[in-house]
Amino acid sequence: MKKLFVANWKQYISYNEAIALAEDLIDIESEKFSVVIAPQHIALSSIASMDAMFSLCAQDCFWEKSGAFTGVVSVADLKAIGVSYVIIGHSERRKYFNETDEIAAKKVKASIDAGLTPILCVGESRDEFETGQTMKVLEKQLSVSLSLLNVRDIDDVIIAYEPIWAISGFGGVKANDACETEKTIKWIKDNFGEAKVLYGGSVNHENISEIVNLDSCDGVLVGFSSVNIDSFRKMIQ
Ligand code: PGA
Repeated sequence: MKKLFVANWKQYISYNEAIALAEDLIDIESEKFSVVIAPQHIALSSIASMDAMFSLCAQDCFWEKSGAFTGVVSVADLKAIGVSYVIIGHSERRKYFNETDEIAAKKVKASIDAGLTPILCVGESRDEFETGQTMKVLEKQLSVSLSLLNVRDIDDVIIAYEPIWAISGFGGVKANDACETEKTIKWIKDNFGEAKVLYGGSVNHENISEIVNLDSCDGVLVGFSSVNIDSFRKMIQ
């Protein structure tokens, strides 16, 4: 079965650049990967109308169906325009928008109920990594974030293990060591059912094979390296 390649474009590129990049990728095919693109919300519906080979992912969602909630986007609307996946609990949302595991739990539940596949991001800080607390941190993040689901729905969640200290790999930041990654992903699978587990954090065309060759790893969530067409193509080859 193909592994998942999720391109998280964050706010790296403008609306026009996202449309142009998506057009370049319209016929994208990979023997190794199912390709998923996560552009900014504003570009989702234009890209959804392109009839492209990739699937679409939102970078965030809101859990309420409708009401006086300024500035948010509902899971039902994401689903209605053709989005299949939604990233939830990304460390940048936790850092800049104070998102908690409790908030992630509501978003995960709303997405599952709407028929979207949540990509739930979890991961430890550098300090937590260095003091050996990775599993403890993940245990809390995952048990709270998945707490509103029926047990059978947990297998429909994709978990993205993203050590915070390995994200945005420029300025000397490096991806987590493959052995460490393998150990952590196995631990997640042993403790949280059959969910697919991705790795994210400084994935690029040089290290992607080592990561996706890990048996336990079901794919990658890629930020910075996915907004450049050449590096995108090299990674999914
Ligand atoms: P990065 O981002 O590939 O730029 O480290 C990954 C992510 O934040 O999902």
